Amino acid sequence: MAQPLPQETFERPIILIGLMGCGKTTVGKALSKRTGLPLLDMDAVIEEQIGKSISEIFQEKGENHFRKLETALLQYLEKGTDPTSGAAIISTGGGVVLRPENRRIIRRLGFCVWLNVELSTLLARTSRGNNRPLLKTQDRRATMEKLLRERTPLYEETAHLRLDTTGLDINHVVCAVQQAARDFFASSRQG
Ligand code: S3P
Repeated sequence: MAQPLPQETFERPIILIGLMGCGKTTVGKALSKRTGLPLLDMDAVIEEQIGKSISEIFQEKGENHFRKLETALLQYLEKGTDPTSGAAIISTGGGVVLRPENRRIIRRLGFCVWLNVELSTLLARTSRGNNRPLLKTQDRRATMEKLLRERTPLYEETAHLRLDTTGLDINHVVCAVQQAARDFFASSRQG
C-alpha cells in the first residue's frame, strides 16, 4: 500500500492571493493534500462564523463590513493562537489585498503566492455560480478588467512570489508553490 507523504514542516503558512477565478481554492485544496497541511479558506471561515453566505453578508451589511471581517480574521491568525497560525495553507478572497493593513499582515504571516492568470480564464471560471456579489454587473468583462487593473499593483506589493499559471496544469502549479515555499522558509531560517 502506498505510504502517505510526510507532512511538510513549515513553521508558517502559505497564503494564496489573486483575483476571483485564479484558482486559489482549487490550488489550496491540492496543495493541502500534497503537503498534508490543513487548509483554511478565509471566505468559508467567515461564512461559518457569521452563519451567512458571502452574498448575504454583502447584501445585508455591505462590502465594507465584509472587509472588516477579513481584517479581523487575519489579525486573529497573526496572534498565533489558532492551529493554522503554524504550517497551513490559507486561501484568501480576491479583495483581501485592498486594505493596507491586510497586505502588511499577510507578508508577515507567511509565504504569500499570487496566482496570476489571464483574463479569459478568470471570466470562464467565474461564469457559473451566483456567489460573487462583485460580479453581478451588466458587463462582467469590464468589471473584471477594472479589478485586474486596480488590484495588480496590490497583489505585486503583497506577494513574495508571482506565479503565472495560464496554461499550466494543477500538478505543475502545486509543485512549483511547494518548492518555492521550501526555499523561502529555508532562507528565512538562515536569517
Ligand atoms: C471578492 C472575492 C471573493 C469573496 C468576495 C469578494 C473580491 O472570493 O471574498 O466575493 O473582492 O474579489 P474569491 O476570490 O475566492 O472568489
